[in-house]
Amino acid sequence: TGHITLDSGFKNTGSTKSAITFLDGELGVLKYRGYPIEQLAEKSTFLEVAYLLIYGVLPTATELNDLQAVISRHTLIHEDMKKFLDGYPSKSHPMAQLASLVCSLSTFYPESLNANSSKEEMNLTMIKLLAKFPTIVSFIYKKSLGHPLIYPKNKYDYVTNFMNMIFGQRTEEIEIDPVVVSAMNTLLILHADHEQNCSSSTVRIVGSSDCNLYASVSAGISALWGPLHGGANQAVIEMLELIKADGGDTEKWINKAKDKNDPFRMMGFGHRVYKNFDPRAKIIKKACDDILEKLGINDPVLEIAKKLEEAALSDPYFIDRKLYPNVDFYSGIIYRALGFPTDMFTVLFALGRLPGWIAQWKEMHENKEPIGRPRQVYVGNVDMEFVDIEKR
Ligand code: CMC
Repeated sequence: TGHITLDSGFKNTGSTKSAITFLDGELGVLKYRGYPIEQLAEKSTFLEVAYLLIYGVLPTATELNDLQAVISRHTLIHEDMKKFLDGYPSKSHPMAQLASLVCSLSTFYPESLNANSSKEEMNLTMIKLLAKFPTIVSFIYKKSLGHPLIYPKNKYDYVTNFMNMIFGQRTEEIEIDPVVVSAMNTLLILHADHEQNCSSSTVRIVGSSDCNLYASVSAGISALWGPLHGGANQAVIEMLELIKADGGDTEKWINKAKDKNDPFRMMGFGHRVYKNFDPRAKIIKKACDDILEKLGINDPVLEIAKKLEEAALSDPYFIDRKLYPNVDFYSGIIYRALGFPTDMFTVLFALGRLPGWIAQWKEMHENKEPIGRPRQVYVGNVDMEFVDIEKR
């Protein structure tokens, strides 16, 4: 095994050629299919970006309408899937429910299981997943509240329909504030893809065994759950709340993050690839100010977040290690302002990342990539002789 190059955490190993997302960590550049994230976040909708990521080009108005129309035909999930929901403890984590419900789509829609599916069948599976995902997310949320489930309404666009299923009631129609829909579009767009991150690499590697899309994406959801990845958005708010309850002494917590004997890390700080700033964090910080102002919300943890950021950015520990706020640092404050509970934040990240996972899975198949199978450097025992149990 002498010729094997070891690269723990794949810090410097390319696993694929990809034409989906471009990322320059030194310059803080992020582009989907060549389009700057700043332009997409400002001018586009989430479904439009999903089309761009999956099919490679921006849709015409007709193509976008057609996608919306076909999605609307597949938004319901099989009624029997609600039996799983009923079975989960009501306080169980929504990410656990999401991963298992998405995987169980392969039992209700088994046509997705065929590795030799035609292009049309594969496309329909992708559409079904896009269509059913917001319904699954909203059912998980409503169940956590003990509220009646709200079914999809086809008169709404993708994001409005989602917000209606989240905040809607059975008893009366609600007004969905366009400010809220627009904020949600922005957040979902910013999360839609990020090249070969932990969850997307997972989707590709699981899919490379010819495993179906639902199971591959379910694996991606599990990878996203951890606090070093998508789970950071929940961890950030929990951290800010803790600092607030502790009297708001940001200095003390910065010192804890710097202390190598203390396991505490500044959640929402640092990134494997971005070494100057995270362009998504820049957009989110501004969106956060705008949305809180528009909704007339005064969230004390925002002040703590800003104080932490300011102190960290002038501290040699953070400067030397090039640690900047990442996408998760401010996103939770917005989700909270929109009315989401903390344990739903990572689920919202998953909803945003879904088009990216689908695009990565599709590209991997179209490129006919071989099964993912890393090597290792073996450091264990060699030449052991079996010893009978009574002699050990
Ligand atoms: N707080 C304190 N120190 C940190 C932090 C942090 N958040 N992040 C990195 N460091 C230190 C780390 O201890 C190490 O120091 P030293 O060189 O003295 O040993 C140095 O910076 C390099 O860190 P690393 O852990 O080797 O870097 P990595 O590329 O393996 O990890 C990361 C990247 C994002 C996992 C890490 O920065 C981290 O744990 N951040 C907090 C969790 C977080 O916000 N995650 C969300 C990432 S962005 C969205 C997403 O991917 O979901």
